[in-house]
Amino acid sequence: MAQFPELVFSGVQPTGNLHLGNYLGALKRFVEMQATHSCLYCVVDLHAMTMPHDPEQLRQNTRAVTAAFLACGIDAKKNIVFNQSRVSEHAELAWALDCVARLGWLNRMTQFKEKAGKDRENASVGLYNYPVLMAADILVYRATHVPVGDDQKQHLELARDIAQKFNNDFDASIAAHGHGDAFFPLPEPLIQGPATRVMSLRDGTKKMSKSDPSEYAHIALTDDADTIVQKIRKAKTDAEPLPGEVGGLAGRPEADNLVGIFAALGDETKADVLSRFAGSQFSGFKNALADLTVAKLGPIRAEIIRLNGDDAYVDSVLAEGAEKARAIARPNMDAVKDVLGLIR
Ligand code: TYM
Repeated sequence: MAQFPELVFSGVQPTGNLHLGNYLGALKRFVEMQATHSCLYCVVDLHAMTMPHDPEQLRQNTRAVTAAFLACGIDAKKNIVFNQSRVSEHAELAWALDCVARLGWLNRMTQFKEKAGKDRENASVGLYNYPVLMAADILVYRATHVPVGDDQKQHLELARDIAQKFNNDFDASIAAHGHGDAFFPLPEPLIQGPATRVMSLRDGTKKMSKSDPSEYAHIALTDDADTIVQKIRKAKTDAEPLPGEVGGLAGRPEADNLVGIFAALGDETKADVLSRFAGSQFSGFKNALADLTVAKLGPIRAEIIRLNGDDAYVDSVLAEGAEKARAIARPNMDAVKDVLGLIR
């Protein structure tokens, strides 16, 4: 298989306030990856249209997610930060990949089933097609590595299947156009660390999500210190003290979740955390967790608030990022056209 230069791509939907799960599962990892890789970080506004949306809200949310990227430490000079709809090659490639992906593959997507709910006939076609656009996001740059939370694993597997089928279906044309034996890399999901699936603070068996009706289920990146302390204090736990080893967290989803959050925020492992808190009651542990969370999120919150007051700057970052993204996407899309037999 051809070697592709390492390139990182990931996306976040502008569908509301980002929370601790987004931060630990994605944004914090995005920041770490920029030390070693070239990265594209995209605010996927086209994906946010797959559910009913308010246009003005979408505009504001797109800026808010961009502000959160920057506030967490993503360097928009060194990397590419942009909004998806600005680079029309994403949608253009999505159509080509629609003709490669199989209906049977999409029918297996669990996120569609969850989001569409019982009234599936009434879901948008875009929601069904969502994972193909996601594959196009990645493949239009021939990105090789994709840092995401655990909930995106199935979508990444689909992106690999689509890339593989494209490479197989058009191998003769790919070779004839001088693209070697593979046109697309098979993008690798990077799902790593102690918090790839942060759970609700109210129910350790449910994922922390933007759409949870309970305010106490998630910590938003814009929550102030008092709110964070309150939410952690009220977080559901069980009656046992903390165990000394990771094995002791089995069957204790709330304890496991809080220990995972502690470890991820402090850049350590769950075993490190438990070696200090073995035998502790939750009250003491929660105080320490609240202190750590406030210390880590406080500066991010302050910077988000500052950037929320500077739309002109945020818009200029997005405009510049889109230019840089298009410079990679356009030649790749032209090559796709050649491979597919589309005259340009
Ligand atoms: P989205 O916007 O739902 O979430 C953004 C990122 O946050 C991660 N995440 C979590 N990680 C840990 N615990 C949680 N509770 C949690 N909730 C969310 C997600 O896994 C994701 O990494 N389909 C994507 C957006 C997307 C994309 C892409 C990602 C569009 N195109 C191409 C990668 C590559 C999504 O809806 O993420």
